[in-house]
Amino acid sequence: MLPAVRMHGVAAVPRLGLLLRATPRGTNAGYSRIEIVIFSATADLYDLIYSFKDYTGEAEKVRQVINRERPGAKTILDVACGTGEHARFLSANFSVDGIDIDPAFVKIAQGKNPLGNFSVADMRSFELHKRYDVVQCLFSSIGYLLTSADVVSAFRCFRDHLAPDGVVMVEPWLSPTEYKVGSIHMLTVDRPDLKICRMNVAKHEGDISILNFHYLTVTREGVRRMEETHRLVLISSEEMASHFRAAHLGCTFDPVGLNGRGLFVARPVDAR
Ligand SMILES: C[S@@+](CC[C@H](N)C(=O)[O-])C[C@H]1O[C@@H](n2cnc3c(N)ncnc32)[C@H](O)[C@@H]1O
Repeated sequence: MLPAVRMHGVAAVPRLGLLLRATPRGTNAGYSRIEIVIFSATADLYDLIYSFKDYTGEAEKVRQVINRERPGAKTILDVACGTGEHARFLSANFSVDGIDIDPAFVKIAQGKNPLGNFSVADMRSFELHKRYDVVQCLFSSIGYLLTSADVVSAFRCFRDHLAPDGVVMVEPWLSPTEYKVGSIHMLTVDRPDLKICRMNVAKHEGDISILNFHYLTVTREGVRRMEETHRLVLISSEEMASHFRAAHLGCTFDPVGLNGRGLFVARPVDAR
């Protein structure tokens, strides 16, 4: 069943890289105006759209990095946890909590991970009154913070949630040289009861990549079109390292990481 498009009037998230416009076109959509909403409108499609993504394999790589960087770790905070897929696989070995700015994602993540605590929070400023052996922020979620100040604020929060000897892991978005402006993309889902096609052309405005996702979905109830604009900042690994330093974290960068996007591992500069 397709999610109802939520028509919040939340134009008030200007500093977030993610805005979504549900654009009713066609006779069955039933909406008469364009509204700006956050990810929630497509939250129920997320796991289907990203079913190609190897969360099991990535969780295994996360486990290997943790065993190397923080052997004996027991607790993980998954920042920008989305639908809780990494948590689902990591919870076999760790106690995993998560935060995300999107309430619909948090609900899905909590449902999949009943033993963890999943809550709505903004990674730029949160206080959970708990410390973790590992604070991770995966699948380029950090890219949604568009200013250096926001990234540094988030890194400070990550550091403040570390238990002694804890480590931060961040999987970045693309650098300016990696992002291919003008490239075209399509993801499809083809099930008997549901078809989805998501397409976009990679655009940019200066150092902000713009992914304007056009969704076409169909069920027996009809065809629906939706449109989402994701804005993620393009920054080099050197610039990201300087943001870690500004938050008093020293980092190393593996350019391959979990799946080719690279992985930063950071710890407080006064630690070992
Ligand atoms: C590409 S998704 C990745 C989700 C998940 N980590 C995964 O691997 O599937 C990006 C996530 O970042 C979240 N996000 C964006 N800005 C955020 C913020 N300021 N604070 C917390 N979460 C945020 C979005 O809601 C979304 O769940």
